[in-house]
Amino acid sequence: MQRRATARAALLLLAGLSLAKAVEIEIHDENNKTCIYATLSVNFTVLYEGNATMENATFQLPSSLSSNGSVCGNNNLAPLLKMGFGPGHSLSLNFSRSAGMFRGDVLSFTYNTSDTKLFPGAKNTSVKQVVVDSLMETAPLNTIYTCRSAEAIADKAVIMVFYDIGIQAFVENGTISKNEYLCKADLSTTTAPLTTLATSTMTPTKPPSPLPSVGNYTLKNGSEFCLLANMGLQLNFSSDDNQTQVINIDSNSTASGYCGDQDAALVLEDVDTTILFHFTVEQRKFFLKEVKANISLVVNGSKISVHTSNSGLRYWQAPVGSSYMCHKEQKLMVTDRLVINAFNVWVQPFELKSGTFARAEDCKIKESYVVPIAVGAVLGTFVFILMVISAIYYRQNQMTGYQHF
Ligand SMILES: *[C@@H]1O[C@H](CO)[C@@H](O)[C@H](O)[C@H]1NC(C)=O
Ligand SMILES: *[C@@H]1O[C@H](CO)[C@@H](O)[C@H](O)[C@H]1NC(C)=O
Ligand SMILES: *[C@@H]1O[C@H](CO)[C@@H](O)[C@H](O)[C@H]1NC(C)=O
Ligand SMILES: *[C@@H]1O[C@H](CO)[C@@H](O)[C@H](O)[C@H]1NC(C)=O
Ligand SMILES: *[C@@H]1O[C@H](CO)[C@@H](O)[C@H](O)[C@H]1NC(C)=O
Ligand SMILES: *[C@@H]1O[C@H](CO)[C@@H](O)[C@H](O)[C@H]1NC(C)=O
Ligand SMILES: *[C@@H]1O[C@H](CO)[C@@H](O)[C@H](O)[C@H]1NC(C)=O
Ligand SMILES: *[C@@H]1O[C@H](CO)[C@@H](O)[C@H](O)[C@H]1NC(C)=O
Ligand SMILES: *[C@@H]1O[C@H](CO)[C@@H](O)[C@H](O)[C@H]1NC(C)=O
Ligand SMILES: *[C@@H]1O[C@H](CO)[C@@H](O)[C@H](O)[C@H]1NC(C)=O
Ligand SMILES: *[C@@H]1O[C@H](CO)[C@@H](O)[C@H](O)[C@H]1NC(C)=O
Ligand SMILES: *[C@@H]1O[C@H](CO)[C@@H](O)[C@H](O)[C@H]1NC(C)=O
Repeated sequence: MQRRATARAALLLLAGLSLAKAVEIEIHDENNKTCIYATLSVNFTVLYEGNATMENATFQLPSSLSSNGSVCGNNNLAPLLKMGFGPGHSLSLNFSRSAGMFRGDVLSFTYNTSDTKLFPGAKNTSVKQVVVDSLMETAPLNTIYTCRSAEAIADKAVIMVFYDIGIQAFVENGTISKNEYLCKADLSTTTAPLTTLATSTMTPTKPPSPLPSVGNYTLKNGSEFCLLANMGLQLNFSSDDNQTQVINIDSNSTASGYCGDQDAALVLEDVDTTILFHFTVEQRKFFLKEVKANISLVVNGSKISVHTSNSGLRYWQAPVGSSYMCHKEQKLMVTDRLVINAFNVWVQPFELKSGTFARAEDCKIKESYVVPIAVGAVLGTFVFILMVISAIYYRQNQMTGYQHF
């Protein structure tokens, strides 16, 4: 227990999260195993009828909470996280899961305006409730959904600002995950780069194999494919004292993530590694903007998780509606400690038609649309014939003194 808490604190520190003030809560099942883990901060603003005028009550989710009423859930019952505080106030969130992902479903906030501490001079003293969609994004099972950015949820008289969130429901075997799944809002902000990794002996957690196998990773939006990525990946990670370790990403890694119109993310989870590829669109071109990696290392005999990321990248660029292809080996510099060796890359994160790759922009040819060879050849021939005809026509007209052009 103690050990696990320490490991998690270290991870959050490495990830640049400052969850110091956040409330932390764990729900246990009948065997005393953790089934829901949550750390969060919430700022409430509640409009109520005061002594003479309308008043705003502002307060934060206190750290002394009761988890009474929470349930771990089972096949028929959704897990419920209930955080009770003060005289009759509570914040509840139930969870749903499907296809390897989970999300917070419905959020309900109950408050008691009889509480004179939070609602001084309230005219109508009663217990009120607001029920809203939690707006939580889906995250892969066995990861902690984290969202450091503030997100506001408003309903009638209540505004709730959530920040520094870390949530894992459906915790398997009572073991809280070491992998984070970052919310969209956090993806666009830079996490502080890792500065010091204890200078120590690093031993590879598994021996490097010569070349990574090419994985065909896919994401779906409903029943339709929305992201395709075929590639072989090898991580080249170096520590402060310049020891490097080479990690091949297993082509059987589970793929998850999300698809959007302007942003898409692919998360690959291997035994020791979770890596996120964030694609974005600018001026009708997509590119790989950000890579985040959580890598488990064995340092001085104990396993630690190292987080490294860069959100200022511009790799794998191609026009939206096409795919990006590169057969040669690429060395993608992510940070000064992480280089990704990519092999046989073929990706399309946006605008898939009928679930297949569109025409490819090849890394060999710069700044040009690549038309499939057959079509290109036909077009080329056609253009050439046109040019010849035009030239002949132009010369004939010049000779006869006419100017048609
Ligand atoms: C549950 O486990 C914790 C440590 O993991 C222990 O302190 C606590 O007493 C246990 N509770 C029950 C009811 O077994
Ligand atoms: C929440 O409230 C605290 C205390 O009023 C304030 O310091 C903090 O900036 C607020 N955070 C957000 C995200 O609104
Ligand atoms: C209460 O807070 C809301 C949102 O910040 C604001 O729009 C409203 O004017 C405030 N009302 C009062 C009475 O302070
Ligand atoms: C938990 O709630 C139930 C009813 O909802 C109540 O009977 C019980 O006393 C509560 N336990 C604690 C520790 O508050
Ligand atoms: C609401 O607050 C009042 C005053 O603190 C308390 O007497 C009452 O029991 C609370 N209501 C509920 C449902 O907890
Ligand atoms: C969560 O609770 C709400 C109402 O409290 C309910 O409508 C919804 O179906 C629940 N979600 C799940 C996944 O059970
Ligand atoms: C309401 O306001 C008046 C005048 O400001 C004050 O005398 C009175 O005590 C207040 N009542 C309550 C319940 O706060
Ligand atoms: C007090 O609040 C309750 C619940 O919102 C509402 O049903 C009731 O009409 C309110 N009473 C007054 C006098 O405003
Ligand atoms: C949970 O335990 C089962 C059986 O021991 C194991 O196969 C599975 O990988 C474990 N899951 C996690 C997330 O540790
Ligand atoms: C992956 O995709 C490529 C190109 O579409 C295909 O040639 C290959 O057979 C696929 N591999 C697997 C394991 O499905
Ligand atoms: C991937 O999984 C398949 C079937 O489970 C297995 O045959 C294959 O060896 C695995 N590939 C790797 C690289 O582990
Ligand atoms: C996902 O599917 C929904 C419903 O079919 C559609 O509105 C949305 O645009 C799709 N998103 C992407 C990124 O394809």
